[in-house]
Order: sequence, then structure tokens, then C-alpha cells
Amino acid sequence: MLELKNSGLPLYLDEENHVMALSALLTYGGFGRKPAAKMQGLLADETNLPMEENVYDVYRKIAFPEDEELLKKNDFCYDITIIMPGQINGECKKTSGHYHGWNPEHTNTYGEVYEVIKGTALYILQRSDNFDAEDPEDVKVDDLILTTVHEGETIIVPPNYGHCSVNIGEGPLVFSNLAYVPCTVNYGPVKHYHGMSCYVFKENGEIRVKLNDRYHQVPKLKFATVKENPALGIKFGLPVYKSYKENPEAFRFLGYPDNYVDEIMSMLIYHDELVTK
Ligand SMILES: [Fe+2]
Repeated sequence: MLELKNSGLPLYLDEENHVMALSALLTYGGFGRKPAAKMQGLLADETNLPMEENVYDVYRKIAFPEDEELLKKNDFCYDITIIMPGQINGECKKTSGHYHGWNPEHTNTYGEVYEVIKGTALYILQRSDNFDAEDPEDVKVDDLILTTVHEGETIIVPPNYGHCSVNIGEGPLVFSNLAYVPCTVNYGPVKHYHGMSCYVFKENGEIRVKLNDRYHQVPKLKFATVKENPALGIKFGLPVYKSYKENPEAFRFLGYPDNYVDEIMSMLIYHDELVTK
């Protein structure tokens, strides 16, 4: 068993089947598994799908019993996702991809905190201001950023950006999320286009990106990595769970995004090429 030290929690990973074990000190609220069969309609090439093969697991609402009240007070939840290693017809394993719902003022959608505990993540971030259009054919994607996040780093998924997590490393990708519970999650607009605006492949160890031509228009690809922002509770090397416990007020941006959008966007560092390592 491998201790998932970057989480700051007593969590352990079985290195053979990538199932996570939780210390009895922790409580958790549920588990979900997505085999390839449940990813149909989202993958680049679905010929001869290995239906039973696992793509990713989600462990929901992890907390120490003494922290449940604090999480409830802010209406936050802390979950862990494990994306399995490997590819399906060359495409790196990934999550379904979704957009978050609007805040009550309808000014911004909610963001989310993703912390990479083990492995290397590529987050596909695509901005759409009309993701909820009545006819999904009208959905327009205005910005597309492929953001690489290394082990021990954390990204704040910016408000208004649909997002999908891709495992571009050699082993499993383990990441946590801290999210605002009242935020709705919209899978439909991504499913309509058979995935996000691009697909990520790994061939002979090289990462390759292919645009999804089902979208009528795909903006120019941008590439990014992330930097920390202690004012928003994001300090690399300090587990998000601990950071939140020490300073819950720093994470106010999760429930009230309006005053934080520019600051969150400024945490992305742009590059000319995709960062793969
Ligand atoms: Fe999300």
C-alpha cells in the first residue's frame, strides 16, 4: 500500500489495482466507478471498447468526523478521483467532463479546487457563456486551455470553464476536489459534442492533442501550468484539506465567485507548447 502523502490524510493506494483504502479515522459518503462502457459517447474512438475496463473511481465526501460540521457550514465537499493508467484506442483515460451551473446572480458559474495528489494531470478547460443554451448546437466555446498540473500542485478551475481531467502520466492519477455542494453539474452539453473540444492521445510515450471536429468552432489552443496563491488558500506542498481547515475563509471564492474571477485566471501561467512532464 502506498501512502497518499500529498493529501495530508490517512489514505492509501493499492498499487496493483489502484483501489484506495481509507483509515477508519475518516468517514466517507460513497463510491462510484466508471468503466469504459459508461464512457460511451465521450471517447474519440469507440471501436471494440473494452467495456469492463475501469476508467476512473470516485470516493465522495471524505472527512474526519470532527471536520464535518465545518464542511457543512460552508456547504463544501471533499472528494477523491482516481483515473486509471493507460489509454483506450490511444486516448488517455479521462473523466466525463462537465460545466458547472450559474450562481444565483447569473454572473458567473462556480469554480472548483483540484489538487493533484499522485501522478500528472492535464485539465481541459473550455469557456462557454451559453453552455446551457436550449439547443446545444448553439453552444459556443470561447477559450480552450490545456493546463498541466503536477503532483503536489493545485489548480482552481476558473468559473465559467467546463472541465475534464485527463491522466497523462504513467501510473494512476489521484486528485482531490474541494467543491461547493449547491453548484449544479451539467454533463449534457459535453455529451452532445461527444466530449470536450479536444482529445488527448498518448502514442509511443508522446502526448498528442486532436481537436474534436463535432464542435462548429474551436478556439486556438492555449497551454498552461499553474502557480500558487496563498491568499486563496493554494500553497503547493500544503494539502488542500489542511489549508481549508486552517483558513476556511480563504476558500470563499468557491461559493461566491464574483470578486475572484480575474485573480483565479491570473494563477495560470501560459506556455507556447503543451507541458507534458
Ligand atoms: Fe466540476
